[in-house]
Amino acid sequence: MFATADTGAGVDATGTAARAGALGVPAVGTADEGDGGASGVAIAEAGGGGGGGAGVARGWPAHAPSTETKPASVRRAILARYRITRRLRSTGGRMASAKDAGYMPSMPRVLVVDPGAPDVATIAEAVRVLRAGGLVALPTETVYGLGVRALDERAVEGVFRAKGRPSHHPLIAHVLDEERARDLAASWPEQASRLVRAFWPGPLTIVVGRAPRVPPAMAGGGDSIAIRAPSHPVARAVIGALGEPVAAPSANRYQGLSPTTAQHVVKQLGDAVDLVLDAGPCDTGIESTVIDLRGAVARVLRHGALDTATLRGILPDLESRTEDAREDQPRASPGMAARHYAPRAALLLARTRDEAQRLARGLASNGKRVGLMVRSPPAAASAEVLVRELPDDPAEYGRALYRTLHDLDDLACDAIVVQGVPSDEAWWAIADRLRRASERN
Ligand code: TXA
Ligand code: MG
Repeated sequence: MFATADTGAGVDATGTAARAGALGVPAVGTADEGDGGASGVAIAEAGGGGGGGAGVARGWPAHAPSTETKPASVRRAILARYRITRRLRSTGGRMASAKDAGYMPSMPRVLVVDPGAPDVATIAEAVRVLRAGGLVALPTETVYGLGVRALDERAVEGVFRAKGRPSHHPLIAHVLDEERARDLAASWPEQASRLVRAFWPGPLTIVVGRAPRVPPAMAGGGDSIAIRAPSHPVARAVIGALGEPVAAPSANRYQGLSPTTAQHVVKQLGDAVDLVLDAGPCDTGIESTVIDLRGAVARVLRHGALDTATLRGILPDLESRTEDAREDQPRASPGMAARHYAPRAALLLARTRDEAQRLARGLASNGKRVGLMVRSPPAAASAEVLVRELPDDPAEYGRALYRTLHDLDDLACDAIVVQGVPSDEAWWAIADRLRRASERN
C-alpha cells in the first residue's frame, strides 16, 4: 500500500539494509528505531526555496544564448562554447561522469524566456516547432513538461520514444480552462466543474472519460483522459498561441528524476527534444495531484502538489489512499510504476536522521561517494558525506526534493541516503516519490 499512518513514511527498512549490503556496507539497525523522524524542528533550507520568479536558471554557465537572430555559423560557435562549459560545470569538471550516468550529452536548442512575461517571438517559435510535429520542453508551475500537440497521434508517439516510456502509460492533456477541457471529455461530471473552478489553473489533474477526437495513444490505449490547466505563464502562452491542447509528461527519461530546471531536461533528454524553453526553476517542484472522477467517489491516483486536505474542502468524500504500485498488479493509473522518479545513484531510505547518518558514514568509510538528505542538522558533520538539509515543511520540501537529488547525482554520488519523512497525509506526495525512487529495477 501507499504510505499510510500505519506503514510510516514508506521506509522499507529491510530493503534499505539489503541495498546497503549490496553497496558493501554491513546492515545497520533499522526498523525499531525512533518515530519515523517527525522531529518537528523547523530548519531553514540551505540554498533557498528556488522560486520561479528570477528568470535565471541556476547552473547554466551563462544563460543559453538566444541565437535566433544570428547567422548559422555564429549560432553554432556560440552554442558549442556554451555546451562544453555547461557540461563541465554540471559534472564538476568530470565529463566522463555524465557519460557514465547514461545521460544524453548532445545539446538541444535552448531559448531563455522570462517566466512572468514570455517574449512573443519565443512563444511563436515554440508553436512553430509544435506545429511541425516537434517536441518542446516547457516549464509548468510543477515540473518541466515535454510538450507535443495532444491531438496529433504521431507527435504523441514521438513523446513516448523520446522518454523511452511504455506506450500504455497515459499522458496529461494541458489546456487553458474548463471549456477547452470539456472538448476532450466524453462526459463531464458535476464534481469536475466544482474542482476545476476551485483549483484551475493549478497543479490539479482530473481523469474523465475520453472524447473520440482524442487519440487513444494519449490514454495509453484506454478510454479515459487526464486533463489539467497549468498556471505557469509560459505554458499558458504556448497553449494559447497554439490554440490546441498540449500533451506534456514530465520531461525526463522513463523512471528518471523529474526536471525542475531546463538543465535537468537537457542532461536527460539531450537533443531528443527539439526546443527547450528555459524559464528558470519551477515554483512547486513536485507534480500535480491526479484525481479519478470516473467512479461514484472521486479518488486520488497520484498524490501531488495540491494536498488532499485542501481538495476535501471541495470534495469531502475524496478517497485518498492509492493502490499498491507493484508492477504485477493492474492499476487505475498505469503510469504509476513501482520504480519511478529515481536518481542514478542508489537511493536508500532510513527511518531517522541518526540512522541515516550512520548508514551514510558506513558507506563513506567503504569508499563510496555518499549524499545525505536530512531535515535537521546531523549530530556531527562528517567531511566525507555530502550533507543536504531540507526544510521540515512538506511544500518547501517538495520544492527542494528533485533539485537536491539532481545536484547529488551531478556530484557523482554512488548512494543518496534520505531520512524518512513524517507519516501524516501532508507528506504523502513526498513519501510516494521517495519510496518509488528507492525501488530497485
Ligand atoms: O505536474 C504534472 O502533472 C506534470 C506537468 C508537466 O504537467 N506532468 C506529469 O506527467 O507529471 P507524467 O506523464 O509524468 O505523469 C502523468 C501521471 C501518471 O502517473 C499517469 O499514470 C497519470 O498521470 N495519468 C495520465 N493519464 C491518465 C489516465 N488517463 N488515467 C489514469 N492516470 C493517468
Ligand atoms: Mg513523470
